[in-house]
Amino acid sequence: MSENLLEIRDLSIAFPAADGEALGVRALSLEVREGEALAVVGESGCGKTLTALAPLALVPKPGRLAGGEVLYGGRRVSELEGAELRRFRGREVAMVFQEPMTSLNPTFSVGYQLGEAVDPEGKLPKRVRAERSVALLREVGVPEPEKRLGVYPHQLSGGLRQRVMIAAALAGEPRLLIADEPTTALDVTVEAQIMDLLEKLRRERGMALMLITHDLGVVAQYAERVVVMYGGMVVEEASVKEIFNAPLHPYTEGLLGSLPKRGRALRPIPGNVPSLGNFPSGCPFRGRCSREVERCAQGLPELAAAKNRKVRCIRVGEDG
Ligand SMILES: Nc1ncnc2c1ncn2[C@@H]1O[C@H](COP(=O)(O)OP(=O)(O)O)[C@@H](O)[C@H]1O
Ligand code: SF4
Ligand SMILES: [Mg+2]
Repeated sequence: MSENLLEIRDLSIAFPAADGEALGVRALSLEVREGEALAVVGESGCGKTLTALAPLALVPKPGRLAGGEVLYGGRRVSELEGAELRRFRGREVAMVFQEPMTSLNPTFSVGYQLGEAVDPEGKLPKRVRAERSVALLREVGVPEPEKRLGVYPHQLSGGLRQRVMIAAALAGEPRLLIADEPTTALDVTVEAQIMDLLEKLRRERGMALMLITHDLGVVAQYAERVVVMYGGMVVEEASVKEIFNAPLHPYTEGLLGSLPKRGRALRPIPGNVPSLGNFPSGCPFRGRCSREVERCAQGLPELAAAKNRKVRCIRVGEDG
């Protein structure tokens, strides 16, 4: 059994709402093990990005940490500050975002930005910085890397910009890479190339990958374990194989049913993810669930553990 690298325990993040506060993430717990590929999946608005930011001790304003903690190697991330926090972000945990939100700055060259990632304290000779930047670009499959150092982000395609972002994220040799919908803005061919690259890097570097996606198709291909989120909570957790063979939560079943598959019509989940503060009481999936009964309104179902999986639905194990 591999060890836990990261543990999120009972995390809640609150935002101001009409009548007080609403929780974007509610009592969320999950672990990332050393070297594994963990997927976090759910529709837009389910709390995935908040879950991706929490390990870096980032809570977007006007949000606040309303409960719980994040432990990395047994240490509380919220206690890190100053130089230690900067070191942690990058050398232990690094992040890649969706392409249009990429943290590449349009006003600086690729070489300058990679140089900053390679040598944030500016201690290395210029030549060494450039050599390391070129090596990183080569590792992420950027053709003619020497020539790319002088170009600006807008001169690159979306796929190449994302490769540069990944190169920058790798500069500190992180043990965990968090990728928040890294391919959402890219076309399918480029998406597959970027995902293949992330998978290759994970294997070669022995790095853990926390892959945030709304797409179970990507999960099937690139992850080993999966956490399904709904309404800011974990509703199911299992191995990818188990989730695809026998989803237990009606929401997971719904996500699988909305995957394109030959020979049958798409069955999208009815309705939409409610906005924050508008989730029903009781089970948050009420109103969209095909198995709903009256009892589902009576309090939040527990996240019950069975073998290696967890599921939050009172009707699991019942017939019909
Ligand atoms: N900066 C913010 N201000 C207000 N609400 C936010 C903010 N960030 C996230 N939320 C709310 O928290 C919930 C979860 O958001 P998020 O983690 O971005 O979801 P996902 O990434 O799954 O689409 C959403 O309902 C969203 O509206
Ligand atoms: S608790 Fe009820 S509403 Fe919620 S997922 Fe289970 S059956 Fe559906
Ligand atoms: Mg998001």
